Amino acid sequence: MCVAFPILLLPIVAFREIVRLLDLGEIIKLSLCSRKCKTLVKTQHLRPMLTIGVSHLISITIKRCAKQPKVDDTEDPNKLKFCFVDFSSFDGHVETMYWNFDGHRVPVLQNTSNSYLIYWENSLMGTQTVTSFLTDLFNIRIDRLSLFTREPRVSKKLADLVMSRQDSIQSLVYKVYHNAEEVDYVLDKCKVTDTLILGVPISPNRDIRFRLNKIQLDVPWLTIDNLIEFDCCDILIVVTKLSNQDMNRFLKSWVNGGFPRLRSLSLQLKQVEFEVLTEGLDGTVVRRDQRRPYVLNEKETRWISNSWDIRNNENCVASVHWYDTMYNPNKWFNIVAWPDFNGNPYEL
Ligand SMILES: *[C@@H]1O[C@H](CO)[C@@H](O)[C@H](O)[C@H]1NC(C)=O
Repeated sequence: MCVAFPILLLPIVAFREIVRLLDLGEIIKLSLCSRKCKTLVKTQHLRPMLTIGVSHLISITIKRCAKQPKVDDTEDPNKLKFCFVDFSSFDGHVETMYWNFDGHRVPVLQNTSNSYLIYWENSLMGTQTVTSFLTDLFNIRIDRLSLFTREPRVSKKLADLVMSRQDSIQSLVYKVYHNAEEVDYVLDKCKVTDTLILGVPISPNRDIRFRLNKIQLDVPWLTIDNLIEFDCCDILIVVTKLSNQDMNRFLKSWVNGGFPRLRSLSLQLKQVEFEVLTEGLDGTVVRRDQRRPYVLNEKETRWISNSWDIRNNENCVASVHWYDTMYNPNKWFNIVAWPDFNGNPYEL
């Protein structure tokens, strides 16, 4: 027997409590029931983060912040992923839901507990429509664009889609290279405000004076003059041809008050020559029996054993340390400046 529960007749406080107990998929189903449901969900200020991504399929992921024990990604109830599948592969025999996104009635199949497949004639149109639906429902923007596609031109189209809706984007992750023209197009189009993670090469005539919170690059042609122009908190550069002399110049500049926002710089050097690196600088070798944590961001912590520590003219301390890389003879060279992301000071 099925008993109806009059959810819409509940006082607003009780409705809020119920919504708090639902996962994102259930909240969206609820909002698709009627205009009244949608309006009620809209008043909840849930504000999940929205990512548009593409690997072999285009997808939209929304994620609520939640302090929770870590669960398997495919079961995380605070995350929900929609993948757009070509309508031609729709198998009408299996049990299907039909969801109506702003007048587009489309077949939807649940794939895992927190992911759904949406069948659409044109994935880009689907992405456009579902993005509009979600940004309106939760009163949010697109936070992140994540490009991992082997198919040419899709990255450009998604950059266009995002930037036709808003004037900037918080994070861009761009990993699969097709050609220089596409890289230039995507980077010109996307006005990134916080985090840029690039696995594609960028052309040497690009302006790379980045002002960002976090940056990750693979730029073999990078010079120390380029690096000195960066104004970022967290910098990771995979392969460089920078020398110990270059890093000595960087450290001298830091000691004299340069890069005040810098928390962490990591890059690969061919080798570390201690005398060259520290020439003219007044630092101390610090040996630690117990490794010390340095919190880089919400997700990452670096563990520092021995380091060479130096103070700048603002009385901040940086710990310089390096270790072997796993796949090549280079060294990972790191500078972390205290306090760390969580505000932990140098002296504990
Ligand atoms: C459906 O879920 C399975 C894991 O259960 C995953 O391997 C597969 O890639 C998913 N399908 C799509 C289209 O994402």
